[in-house]
Amino acid sequence: MCYSIPGKVIAIKENIVSVDYFGEDKKAKNDFFTLKLGDYVYAQGGFVVQKISEREALPVLESWKELFVKLQEADLKLSQNPKTLYQRANYIRNKYLGNACCIHGIIEFSNYCRSDCLYCGIRKSNTVLKRYRMEPEEIVKTAVDAVKTLGFKALVLQSGEDTWYDDDKLVEIVKKIREKAAVLLVLSIGERGIKTYQKLYDAGARGALLRFETSNPALYEKMRPAHKLAERVELLKELREMGYLTMTGFLIGTPGQTDEDIQNDIKLTASLGTDMFSFGPFIPHPGTPLGKNSAPGLDRVLSVIANTRLSYPEAKILVTTAMETLDKENGMKFGLLSGGNSLMVNLTPAQYQRLYDIYPDRAGVAEDVVQRINSAIKLLYSLGRAPADLGL
Ligand code: 5AD
Repeated sequence: MCYSIPGKVIAIKENIVSVDYFGEDKKAKNDFFTLKLGDYVYAQGGFVVQKISEREALPVLESWKELFVKLQEADLKLSQNPKTLYQRANYIRNKYLGNACCIHGIIEFSNYCRSDCLYCGIRKSNTVLKRYRMEPEEIVKTAVDAVKTLGFKALVLQSGEDTWYDDDKLVEIVKKIREKAAVLLVLSIGERGIKTYQKLYDAGARGALLRFETSNPALYEKMRPAHKLAERVELLKELREMGYLTMTGFLIGTPGQTDEDIQNDIKLTASLGTDMFSFGPFIPHPGTPLGKNSAPGLDRVLSVIANTRLSYPEAKILVTTAMETLDKENGMKFGLLSGGNSLMVNLTPAQYQRLYDIYPDRAGVAEDVVQRINSAIKLLYSLGRAPADLGL
């Protein structure tokens, strides 16, 4: 199984390379390899993650060639003659970014959290939740298996804000994974000091996923007691300056959020120069103070995806698990057909998945990893999408 397609380096300008995928040209940042024209690479999230020999690349490309063209044709057919808002967004997605769709794996390694966000099921005040922490070796093993056995090229390491993993532990985890596997590592570990993030960058992490949750400062302080929006935004800016590929966004449908807030949320995400929009519906968790509120309807969430796509044609927009949870049958599919072009597959070991209870009844938890991967790939193919890199 493979969730990315190799390409050929056709231009090099300092550390930015152009990579050809069957005639499509995408840019990627190269931090780790000595490359020359004609080399073959795998890129993910706009980063070169692996250099491979021509002997390895050609059979893979050969096996993709026919399918790649078929998928392109299917996507083109599905995205033409737009009438509705969603269809227009899908048309624009196809026009600007073609049928590429990133697939990232996510490993949720700890549900301990020092924060007390009103919406979140793993908030520290939720004392009935059984807590878990994966040992560093177990995290490394899960990540390396995800790359070597399951074929992932990009992984998100996510946890609550858990300082049990101090700088040394986190650096060791990142270093060991990078030593053993060719992968784009994205950290989703909450607000940690800039020094910590710098050490992790130096150890080889290249992505940071951190939502600002809402662009409304008053709502932010209500939802995240003892925290300030300005601090979060500052951290996101610093991470980007440091060289991290940043993924950020907000919750849709948080109690008290207005339509104007959502407009501002979209604008803030873009103005932060995010490399990937990550937003999803608020889903009430009974163990939180917001447990009696309701989740937004699927259409509300789809219209946010679609409007974002129309405003930012070249955006990478993640279709999140929360979206799938909102409508298990169609959430993922409709998200991809309304402007979305990226998804995540949960690779957290089965015994922990239920415990990473940020919101209830998360999609996919009942299935095993291989089943989840297969259904994601099946869905992508049915929509004419290819797991190729979206470029920078
Ligand atoms: N519903 C939906 N998303 C949630 N998150 C936390 N709690 C919820 C909830 N109840 C999201 C936050 C956080 C991400 C890891 O999970 O946006 O950034």
